[in-house]
Amino acid sequence: MSKQVLVTGGTGYIGSHTVVELQAAGFRVVIADNLSNSNIEVLDAIQKISGVRPDFENVDLADKLATDSFFDKYPDIDAIIHFAAFKAVGESVQKPLEYYHNNLNSLLNLLGNMLRYNIRNMVFSSSCTVYGQPDKLPVTEQTPRKPAESPYGNTKAICEDILRDFCHANAGFNCIALRYFNPIGAHPSALIGELPLGVPNNLVPFITQTAAGIRNELSIFGDDYATPDGTAIRDYINVVDLSGAHVVAINRLIQDKQKANYEFFNVGTGTGLSVMQLVKSFIAVTGVQLPYKIAPRRAGDIEKIWADTSFANEELGWKASRATEETLLSAWNWEKSVRGIN
Ligand code: NAD
Ligand code: UD1
Repeated sequence: MSKQVLVTGGTGYIGSHTVVELQAAGFRVVIADNLSNSNIEVLDAIQKISGVRPDFENVDLADKLATDSFFDKYPDIDAIIHFAAFKAVGESVQKPLEYYHNNLNSLLNLLGNMLRYNIRNMVFSSSCTVYGQPDKLPVTEQTPRKPAESPYGNTKAICEDILRDFCHANAGFNCIALRYFNPIGAHPSALIGELPLGVPNNLVPFITQTAAGIRNELSIFGDDYATPDGTAIRDYINVVDLSGAHVVAINRLIQDKQKANYEFFNVGTGTGLSVMQLVKSFIAVTGVQLPYKIAPRRAGDIEKIWADTSFANEELGWKASRATEETLLSAWNWEKSVRGIN
């Protein structure tokens, strides 16, 4: 019997892509998601891509009783990938209690059930936000974490600490935190992708919505940073590459290959790109008009960050492989398919 993986937040952006990669790797998948930031139709799209409909339960993982009942129904789970969380940085500043409640309680409820049902493996979605603005670039896993700039970022740091302490206290239980850099793009089928509610906060959805005519103009936040063209630099990773890192991490846990029972890895490309480079690349690869203007810096933004990926490359045997142009094109194809543009 193939191994069963619980994917929390599996109808969301990164979760849905990871479900497809897990299915391709031969895993059985059950999704737990309360659809607070995703749609049930994603299950149809996953089925179209893989030919297999994953099991699905609508459950609020921050609710302990509901989470316990979910595990009573699925007692044979081998590993968990925990994506489910609130993720809007700005909103977390306005509504800190909702973020702490959702992101911390969901993790605690899952860990409690790992003990109840002897589920020994978890992969957790962390973020490069835990590094803040690093003093030295690129960032390695030895780069010190900095105090979080937002309640959202703080939930990631606290969750990492909870995992470390949980693994320390419970021999035989293993966790891997993956610190994502900036995930972008969509599945090449254009059947799944990122669907932000309302006005997008993140750069690539704003670009594709502007190109589709839904937004008038992209604002580039700041052109006076200490970078070659003055705009901020990030490490943009293709979401399918990122999903592949989860499959590798799950295999590492299931096959008992980890060196310590709590590990964390940078998951990026190793290359930093400026906002202006990304915008120009999008225009070049799609040939569409993209009105943009320079606007003031966005509060809370850091100047530049990109990953040193050598530890993930060597230790996990995983490397991001898709070119930025291909990734931007996939994001555009997804936007067109959502909007019915030819
Ligand atoms: P997403 O919002 O698309 O997916 C999250 C999913 O979790 C959604 O489907 C939502 O309905 C679900 N969810 C939220 N709270 C829940 C709860 N209490 N119970 C059940 N389901 C719940 O977000 P994403 O971009 O796919 O991000 C996935 C994870 O990766 C998150 O933990 C996020 O913080 C982390 N992350 C994302 C990025 C990014 O740029 N997208 C960067 C770093 C880290
Ligand atoms: C942000 C969060 C990060 C989180 C990630 C995913 C901060 C400081 N970081 O990353 O913790 O994991 O989102 O939700 O908030 N930009 C524009 N115009 C736009 C939108 C963005 O110029 O309309 C610029 C930003 O200023 C930034 C870059 O594009 O320099 C990337 O922005 P974004 O996609 O929002 O990601 P981060 O801010 O890097």
